[in-house]
Amino acid sequence: MYKQMKFKSDSRTHSYYAGMGDLYTPMRQKHRQALFGIIALIATLCVLYYFESDSGHDYISSPLTTQSGTLYGSGFRGHSNADYSRVTNATLGFSNVFVVGLPERSDKRDALALTSALTGFQVEFVDGVKGESVPDKAVPFKADRQSLWENNLGSWRGHMNAVRRIVEENLESALIMEDDMDWDVRLRAQLEQVAMGVRIILPSGSSSRSPYGDDWDLLWLGHCGEIFPEALPENEGKPHHPKYTIKNDITVAPLNKITGLVEFNKYPEFTRWVHISGAPICTFAYALSQKGARKVLFDLSVDHLLGAYDNALAGFCRDGASGNRDGLQAKCVSVTPPVFFHQRAKGRVTGDSDIQKSDSGDVREKGTTENIVWSARNNIKNMLMGLDMENQFES
Ligand SMILES: *[C@@H]1O[C@H](CO)[C@@H](O)[C@H](O)[C@H]1NC(C)=O
Repeated sequence: MYKQMKFKSDSRTHSYYAGMGDLYTPMRQKHRQALFGIIALIATLCVLYYFESDSGHDYISSPLTTQSGTLYGSGFRGHSNADYSRVTNATLGFSNVFVVGLPERSDKRDALALTSALTGFQVEFVDGVKGESVPDKAVPFKADRQSLWENNLGSWRGHMNAVRRIVEENLESALIMEDDMDWDVRLRAQLEQVAMGVRIILPSGSSSRSPYGDDWDLLWLGHCGEIFPEALPENEGKPHHPKYTIKNDITVAPLNKITGLVEFNKYPEFTRWVHISGAPICTFAYALSQKGARKVLFDLSVDHLLGAYDNALAGFCRDGASGNRDGLQAKCVSVTPPVFFHQRAKGRVTGDSDIQKSDSGDVREKGTTENIVWSARNNIKNMLMGLDMENQFES
């Protein structure tokens, strides 16, 4: 799919996709030796990833702007690039991609089905439910129907139906997203970096079943704000969790546009982190492993439910990050800034949310998505027609 698109507006990205094939053109011996020297040097540098002692273990990568995506794969701990590229398959390296939403929102389903097809992956819709349809008897222990309000209860149930499918069908993993999601056209390249990061901060041996490694419960890929776990009061004085830092990532929004809870201006522009989850807000998009799905089904339904679904899921991760030995020891990894974000679609503003009510008669002329540079939703026509991609933050 990428090959059909024109990436000439950014040659750096283009070279990232080009891969190693270009290196095997016939060339004279002297040039070849020089090239091998350079490759050996780059590979060595790649193996020498950093420890930054003042902020825990920080592993640095500078992908997406370099041609060395392939070299990173083979340089790091013996994984071959072919292994990471498993995340680029039709279900993004998970067993399935589930989209949760009310079945009557055909507008959202149409847009999501088309956008994912154009980006190169397939989704399966899981019916969301309305809170009113959840009888009192089915409300989990400790959940307070009044303070939760019906819409949050419906949202919880929709997500829980998707989580239960992972358990019932014994899937290795699944990505669960809400039906108004948007992402960058370069999502699959981003996910290769995420997979490298997850496997470095939660290592699980060289031949893992999942391309993201086998030691994670939850990957929080889309959220509306997240902090690093060391910023939480309960983790004061504890050793920091490792982070994987992606520098010079051209798919990160510029500093004056980026949103979230991290103080981004304290860091170099165009930085993204793969890190142990602190306490994310919004369940835009997250993946669960089989083990993770079982823990979540227990912790947020069978055992009890405290608060709205996203807060409860954040609590599950936060407890894991704190190292509570009596808890479920959740292993959650977040990507900040996130690679999924909800789109405010063009059209009537009241259509945005099926949870929040709004009586506004406002109409939006153009869709917008925070933090997503080459919005897949905004580039549907460009992808269909093979035109240049539009950058939301450049006008
Ligand atoms: C994509 O890769 C994952 C992980 O290897 C695998 O479980 C899944 O079945 C693959 N999807 C497809 C459509 O082949």
